[in-house]
Amino acid sequence: MKYFHFPFFVLFVFFLGCNILPFQKKENNQDMLLAALGILANASDWVWDLPPGFPVPIVPSENPMSKAKVELGRHLFNEKILSGNETMSCGSCHIQSLAFADGKDFPAGITNVSHPRNSQHLSNVAYMPRLTWSNPKMTSLEIQARAPMFGESPIELGLSSNVFLDKLKAKSIYQSLFTNAFGNADTAVNEQNVRFAIASFQRSMISGNSRYDQYTFRNNKSALTASEIRGLNIFNGEVAECFHCHGGFNFTDTSFHGGATEEFFYHSNGIHTDAYYAGLPSNKRGLFDLTGVASDTGKFRAPSLRNIGVTYPYMHDGSFMCADANNPDKAAGAAAGKTKVDCARDALTQVVDHYRSGGQAHTAKDVTLIRAFTITDSQRNDMVNFLLALTDDEFLTNPKFASPF
Ligand code: HEC
Ligand code: HEC
Repeated sequence: MKYFHFPFFVLFVFFLGCNILPFQKKENNQDMLLAALGILANASDWVWDLPPGFPVPIVPSENPMSKAKVELGRHLFNEKILSGNETMSCGSCHIQSLAFADGKDFPAGITNVSHPRNSQHLSNVAYMPRLTWSNPKMTSLEIQARAPMFGESPIELGLSSNVFLDKLKAKSIYQSLFTNAFGNADTAVNEQNVRFAIASFQRSMISGNSRYDQYTFRNNKSALTASEIRGLNIFNGEVAECFHCHGGFNFTDTSFHGGATEEFFYHSNGIHTDAYYAGLPSNKRGLFDLTGVASDTGKFRAPSLRNIGVTYPYMHDGSFMCADANNPDKAAGAAAGKTKVDCARDALTQVVDHYRSGGQAHTAKDVTLIRAFTITDSQRNDMVNFLLALTDDEFLTNPKFASPF
């Protein structure tokens, strides 16, 4: 709507409908009217319902938010027609109850070949100026969606042609969903609009009602326990240094900051040695895979720690996990009375122990921030308790983000 003065735009749409503008050809008339009405309806109906403390996300001007696009995107995100053999969707590796991560170290796509890194959670992905673990070319959700849809190395959804568009057109629900979002369904069902709608849906996935948020932004001073508050203070202090890389409302230093400023960084947090990375194939060495610069080996974007209590296993390769791996509350885990929270607690205890020890000797490691520090085991447990208070149950169960199928 930036380029149109609102009353004139309404008039313009009206004239379009009357078929009296000079450029109008009769046969295009209906389509254009529908499209214009679509734009008019859409441009004004999106209201960000943001938690206190959250800035307004930056949205690319070519893909403004609308309720109809988000609703179409919610369907497409969970639509198995979006995979080569109709067995998987985005939602197969991004599961709402796990904050849209999937609990695996290396998830596999439709050909059952493992991805070199693990599935990232998607809480507040609208605020990420660079996407994925370590690919600086992934500058928008619109661009990123191409990788799982069409990527060949690794194969995720394994689409190799536009046949999926014909299948979408043939499924009746998509007629009205595409028409509402983009105008006439015949022309609106195209590859770009599929990605745009999915991007809009993902931008709507805002998570900001954890007990930490209630304590910090909603002035509910009883929302955190004394132990969690101690943990928060250690997290934000100069002994543990966590906040340097996991700071701000989204717990990462890669973020849009106040308006249009974007910042993105890649770090090594010292989980592996140089020798370890040297032995890995060239799609598993972090930022180095993209830049070829030796000092970028083992560097990754600091993940947002929101909902960290459900996004295990931790790190790009799932290095830190509880003993009873994939099903903590089933089988052995259940027999031992273990729950998912126990699993997260085990794995997060390993993570904090990793940082406390200073990590592995690794050339790319930022040794001013990743170096041994002294806290007691009880203080370490306080930090783990604090991290577990970042879980936003409302986000994990909100029907707005659930699969419609
Ligand atoms: C086979 C499992 C799988 C499927 C299917 C899948 N993803 Fe992912 N997703 C991943 C993995 C693994 C990563 C990390 C990618 C990397 O670092 O290279 C990821 C990363 C992402 C990210 C980056 C998040 C961030 O914080 O930067 C987004 C966004 C995303 N996926 C969206 C999608 C969408 C949209 C689809 C469907 C079109 C999809 N994914 C399908 C596994 C999957
Ligand atoms: C120098 C920057 C830096 C500092 C300081 C830092 N981290 Fe990290 N953190 C990272 C990076 C980078 C990763 C991802 C590394 C990877 O996947 O290989 C990460 C990953 C994590 C993860 C796993 C997240 C996930 O989704 O898998 C947790 C939990 C975590 N850090 C907690 C902490 C805590 C607690 C502290 C303070 C004791 C801390 N970090 C200090 C950069 C940092």
